[in-house]
Amino acid sequence: MKALICYFSGTGNTKKVATCFGEALKNLKVDVVLHNIDDGCNVDFSDVDMLGVAYPIHAFNAPSIVIDFAKKLKKQERETRLFIIKTSGEPLALNNISSCKLKSILKKRNFVLTNEYHYVMPYNMIFRHSDSMAYRMWKVASQIIPLDCKDMVDGKSVKLRYFPFSRVLAGMFRIEHWGGRFNGKKYKVNENCVHCQMCVKRCPTHNITFENGEFHFGKNCLMCVRCSFNCPKNAIKIGWFDKWKVNGAYNFNNPDGTEQKTHKNYCKHSYNKYFAKNEKRIEAFKDKIDAIS
Ligand SMILES: Cc1cc2nc3c(=O)[nH]c(=O)nc-3n(C[C@H](O)[C@H](O)[C@H](O)COP(=O)(O)O)c2cc1C
Repeated sequence: MKALICYFSGTGNTKKVATCFGEALKNLKVDVVLHNIDDGCNVDFSDVDMLGVAYPIHAFNAPSIVIDFAKKLKKQERETRLFIIKTSGEPLALNNISSCKLKSILKKRNFVLTNEYHYVMPYNMIFRHSDSMAYRMWKVASQIIPLDCKDMVDGKSVKLRYFPFSRVLAGMFRIEHWGGRFNGKKYKVNENCVHCQMCVKRCPTHNITFENGEFHFGKNCLMCVRCSFNCPKNAIKIGWFDKWKVNGAYNFNNPDGTEQKTHKNYCKHSYNKYFAKNEKRIEAFKDKIDAIS
């Protein structure tokens, strides 16, 4: 069996999850090829039995780069299994609607959804989670991924529950797709900048240029926040959303990181529910996880 996992990751969370998924499938004797959507649409589908698409949720939708990638894929001669992997900063069920459009584009190309998974990872925008929360999120995701992969390889179909009128609802929130065009041009660099140009080199749409000592931000911003999140001097202002900016990689290995006071109760109920459900599953299948990891 061969699986091709195509992923887009703005700031690393989805890459971390997609890589873990790939490793877990390999442990189950599946041939896995990982493709970073940053590198374009040139993918080889020969002998592929399952296509996986992984993305971070942006305003209850899949990022436009993922939608464009899907549109460029050729129609397959035979039906091919599709699995979708999403990461997001919160476990709200509303996030499930993010794959509606992607799913229908891929269905027209003969990719039929059989499995869909959603893993909560720390926010890269809106507010910063504590390292202890990031640690717990990753601990849960990395332990349930082998179980999810085992189900998938055994042919068990898993789908997320959607709200009624999901496509309409998702369409209403698709602000990132047009918002990036306007907001992207409002990005600015402040005096802390040391001109390392890491942002220029890493932008997935080559939207940032540096000419005559000045940075220019074009209209092809995806709002993936890779530039501002990774800026070593926290020197990039992200337009209208600057108050929601998060800067600096998370430490996923620090269980004792102090809890954020300001957002202690934000979506508390849904996080508790997410952890309780998954930690219970991990406990119940401890031996199975050890055997397949
Ligand atoms: C523009 C933008 C919009 C986002 N919208 C949502 C959202 O609607 N729901 C959510 O739970 N998380 C949202 N997030 C958080 C990301 O989905 C989350 O942090 C994700 O794990 C980031 O993955 P990445 O590191 O692969 O880019 C948003 C992040 C950005 C940058």
